[in-house]
Amino acid sequence: MSRSERINFGSRLGVVLATAGSAVGLGNVWRFPFMTGHNGGAAFILIYLGCILLLGIPGMISEFIVGRHSASNAARSYRRLANGTPWMVIGYMGVFTSMLILGFYAVVAGWCLQYLFASLAEKLQGDAAFVSRYFADFSSDPVKPALWAVVFVLITHVVVSRGIRDGIEKASKLLMPLLFVLLVFIVVASCMLPGAGKGVEFLFKPDFSKLNTGVFLEALGQAFFSLSLGTACLCTYASYFGRRTNLAGAAVQIALIDTLIAILAGLMIFPAAFSVGVHPDSGPSLIFITLPNVFREAFIGVPAVGYVVSVLFYALMSLAALTSTISMHEIGTAFFHEELKLSRRGGAAIVTVLCCVMTVLCSLSFGACPGLSVAGRSLMDCFDYITAQVLMPLAAFLTCLFVGWYIPRKVVADELSNHGSYDAWYTGLYLYSVRIVCPLGILAIFLHQFGLI
Ligand code: PFF
Repeated sequence: MSRSERINFGSRLGVVLATAGSAVGLGNVWRFPFMTGHNGGAAFILIYLGCILLLGIPGMISEFIVGRHSASNAARSYRRLANGTPWMVIGYMGVFTSMLILGFYAVVAGWCLQYLFASLAEKLQGDAAFVSRYFADFSSDPVKPALWAVVFVLITHVVVSRGIRDGIEKASKLLMPLLFVLLVFIVVASCMLPGAGKGVEFLFKPDFSKLNTGVFLEALGQAFFSLSLGTACLCTYASYFGRRTNLAGAAVQIALIDTLIAILAGLMIFPAAFSVGVHPDSGPSLIFITLPNVFREAFIGVPAVGYVVSVLFYALMSLAALTSTISMHEIGTAFFHEELKLSRRGGAAIVTVLCCVMTVLCSLSFGACPGLSVAGRSLMDCFDYITAQVLMPLAAFLTCLFVGWYIPRKVVADELSNHGSYDAWYTGLYLYSVRIVCPLGILAIFLHQFGLI
């Protein structure tokens, strides 16, 4: 397919909202708040902002350069620029990684759907012990969680198979503003609770005594996951950017939206949690065990508001997850569509079938079939570990080296300045970052993860 035949996003807003939709996900509304809670609040946020600025934005721009320059699926994009050298592995790795992520991400997204319907039907009412038992019973059920995960993949399939403009762009233009409105509504409700000020203070008053190397590296890992770096997702979306899109400008806007949503998610959770005396650092169980109880207790005087907030909260989680699963699905869809010369629907169908199988296995491994494990970790944990801790940072690391050192400098300069149509004064700064700062930062994450620093 030639560049001129290939469909692009129809507008600048479409570019920004679709790509921000990929970035904004469970990583913002769930992982960011508990990481902040765990790592000392505002001090962590400051480090996180530094990581986004110094490493995240240059990393995003790198994937954008590869994707827009080649205007093809991720594997072909890297292959074209790599000229038969081993660098082309990065694209294939991205396609593989995104499908693994979709496998386990859809399980958690499916839980959000279950909780959305349970809170609608008022089935989450009860004390802390009840909510905790509810989660244990649900997640160990052999059918229900797997079914919800499959439903989530199928919803994603419907959007993606409708195409770039009618599917992904339209959905993002609807879902992203909706997500923002829901978030602001819950933030206001949460911040009006008695004692909410302590939560706000925790979020904005830095306590530097909590800082250590681990916090730096966790912030860096979170920044990468949150910006969807290292999955070829940004590369695939950039292949649909028009020639006039300013790559650096888009990266900055998307990073800003992503960070704003993460901070608003903190403002949604911390004030409510502090107002009932819960410290929100309870890790993955935060959303499905701690929060239902926090909402119930916090709004005990006005149960109708508690009900609405709880329903909207799970609706928000489901929407955030959907905008991300769409982008993960699109990476594989574009790959099968273009590499196997199938129709787009055919490509999407392959991804959906593969991901349904993976997500069912992941779901079963978490609850009903603990035997589905590798090296003592459930399949779900394995997928999470291999992607977030190994494949994503590795691909981001290689992409920075690839763009910084391997591909011709002219390609970088042309993409950054849109072939000289404006002054990309930051090109030198950007190159310094992707050649040296980003690779060293990512290397540090690796060494830390494997206990070497
Ligand atoms: N950035 C998403 C989040 O914060 O939840 C996660 C993600 C989306 C990772 C898309 C990878 C991806 F390709």
